[in-house]
Amino acid sequence: MKSISCLFFLVLILAIWPRRILTHDVGDNKSNVPDDVITEACAKTPYKDLCISSIKDDDESPRSSDLHDVARIAVKIAWINASDAQYEMKKMLNTTSVSSIQHCLMDCDATYDDAVANLEESASAFDSKGYGDIVAWVAASMVDPQTCEDYFKDIPGYTSPVTSMNNVVVQLCSNALALTKLVADGQN
Ligand SMILES: *[C@@H]1O[C@H](CO)[C@@H](O)[C@H](O)[C@H]1NC(C)=O
Ligand SMILES: *[C@@H]1O[C@H](CO)[C@@H](O)[C@H](O)[C@H]1NC(C)=O
Ligand SMILES: *[C@@H]1O[C@H](CO)[C@@H](O)[C@H](O)[C@H]1NC(C)=O
Repeated sequence: MKSISCLFFLVLILAIWPRRILTHDVGDNKSNVPDDVITEACAKTPYKDLCISSIKDDDESPRSSDLHDVARIAVKIAWINASDAQYEMKKMLNTTSVSSIQHCLMDCDATYDDAVANLEESASAFDSKGYGDIVAWVAASMVDPQTCEDYFKDIPGYTSPVTSMNNVVVQLCSNALALTKLVADGQN
């Protein structure tokens, strides 16, 4: 009888213990938690300041209390930024009359179709925790802005008008990639 009640308490303690740690971690001041999680996670990304500022600025940020959410939001931000960049390129295409630039912008537009689709798919794959796919797709998306940049290198004496946009997309993707790898590692 004694050993049964001991076992019962042991099971009870084991069942309660992780949750106690969790609720303790969440703490008394809930408003501070997301910021801490974001800062800690972003410290492990290549572009820390951009990581922190972009995620904190996001509408969903207050609800991001774990690493999974931080990574998901980072991928979503990269997706939105890539699609903004593509839209800017389409606008430039409408206003430029230099045919070599038009060709580059058209090629960039096609290349960005791929990046935007991969990032969109990645953002939704967080629901099923398909981290392996997300890592592969985000890594592939990072190549597209660099490919776009390369098109302009073929025009002698011309500087790419889209360098800064391409750079931001690459940086947001490398941050998103680092965060997704962190979540994936935590799962193993
Ligand atoms: C929670 O954090 C905010 C912002 O840092 C602070 O102003 C507030 O006093 C804190 N509240 C408690 C209960 O610690
Ligand atoms: C996202 O994209 C736009 C347009 O390319 C840019 O102005 C903005 O600074 C970018 N950065 C972030 C963090 O969203
Ligand atoms: C480009 O021009 C076309 C035709 O005038 C227009 O329909 C389209 O909305 C424009 N695209 C952008 C991104 O401004």
